[in-house]
Formats: sequence, structure tokens, C-alpha cells
Amino acid sequence: MRNLVLIAGLLIAPAALAAGSAEKGKAAFVKHGCWQCHGYVGQGGVTGPRLAQTQLSVEALSAFVRNTRGGIGYVENIYATQNHLITTQLQNRAGQFVQPDDDSFAAAAANARWDKAPGFYEVLTDQPGAKSWPMTGASFILLHTVPTDPAKTAAVLAFFDWAFKNGGNMATELDYVAMPATVVKLIEGAWRAQIKTAGGELVWNR
Ligand code: HEC
Repeated sequence: MRNLVLIAGLLIAPAALAAGSAEKGKAAFVKHGCWQCHGYVGQGGVTGPRLAQTQLSVEALSAFVRNTRGGIGYVENIYATQNHLITTQLQNRAGQFVQPDDDSFAAAAANARWDKAPGFYEVLTDQPGAKSWPMTGASFILLHTVPTDPAKTAAVLAFFDWAFKNGGNMATELDYVAMPATVVKLIEGAWRAQIKTAGGELVWNR
């Protein structure tokens, strides 16, 4: 995988009706004494296991937001697209209202000051620029600056170099955006400057 810019969208669910009734379920849970072993909120105890869902998968969360009247959620853009969630505009730092799309994600990545961020640790939220989507995020790969196996690290770098050069379309197909070319240049420059063998030789010298 390449170093991708991840995107996050704020989502507003359409006013769909939820099937079933949590209210009735709760009443039955109390009436039939289920709470005696499972706890009043299904938290579980010594006599019965936890029933309440404490962690939802992103798919389940998306479905839950979609099926809950007035529900608002926050998932990665690809889940919003796949699950046909309604997305909202957000006001960015420049005061402009922008839509979550490839252009606004790419603008956030392009306007971030990657050159000022040690280790490229740049959280892409609230970036400057009229077109920047304010809730964008990047994913990261961590590398040792003095690798124990320099040949392996060189192969890893060659792979990411290939991905930076050839992965753009794949990223777009998956609803991500590719790193801006200027940032790729900075990243590969950092490989040259910072990743060295114990003897001080360059691991990446292309
Ligand atoms: C006397 C204690 C007790 C009462 C009362 C009780 N349960 Fe349970 N329940 C348990 C225990 C113990 C298990 C775990 C059984 C097992 O793993 O074999 C369980 C398992 C379950 C599970 C499966 C949980 C899982 O993670 O697989 C559900 C669902 C459940 N109970 C629902 C209910 C409901 C609904 C009621 C009320 C109608 C109820 N229970 C009443 C003790 C109780």
C-alpha cells in the first residue's frame, strides 16, 4: 500500500425509520427479569455475560446512523459513499463551506506544512486554504532511521517509491487521494537524509 491520504467525512443520516423498538425491548428485558443476570443496561455481571454492544464495526456504525432518525455519525469517506450516507458541508479554517470530495481532500494535503512537521507527523485537520476539507487525515508507515537489516529496508523503500509513482489510480478507485507530488519529493528526500546504516551509509540513494 502507498502512503495514502485518508479522508474522513462528517455524515448526516437521512430520516430513515429504525426497524424494531429499543423501548419495547428494554421493557421486556426488565419485565422478564433478564436484568437480574445481565445487568440493567446489559453490562453483564457474575451471573450473566455482557449483552450490550460496546464496539461497532464501521459497517455497523454506518448502518446504525443510516437507520436512526436524525442520526449523525463520523466515518471514513469510503464508508459514506458505499453506504449511501448523506454527507454535509463543513466550514473550513478559511471560512469557506466545502464538500467532502477528492478535490477538498487533496487541497488539505497540498496546503499542509509537511516541511515543518518532524517525521511528517502532520495531522491534516483544519488546514489553511479556501478548498481544504477540514477533517482529512493521512496514514503513516514507521521506519527505523538505523535499520538492523538495511537491504530489507531498501526493498521496502523501493516498494513505496513504486507505489508513489504507480498507485494514484488505485487510490482514487478506493476513494482515497494520492499524496501530492511535492510531498512525495519531501518524503523521498527524508529517506536519503535520515535513513542510514550503522556505518553511516545511505540506504536510499536514488
Ligand atoms: C439466571 C441468569 C440469567 C437470566 C435471568 C437470563 N440470562 Fe441470558 N444468559 C445467562 C448466561 C449464564 C448466559 C451465557 C450462557 C452460555 O454462554 O452458555 C446467557 C446468555 C445470553 C445470551 C447470549 C449472549 C452471547 O454473548 O452469546 C443472550 C442474548 C441472553 N442471555 C439474553 C437473555 C435475555 C433476553 C434474558 C431475559 C429473557 C436473559 N438472557 C435472562 C444468564 C441469564
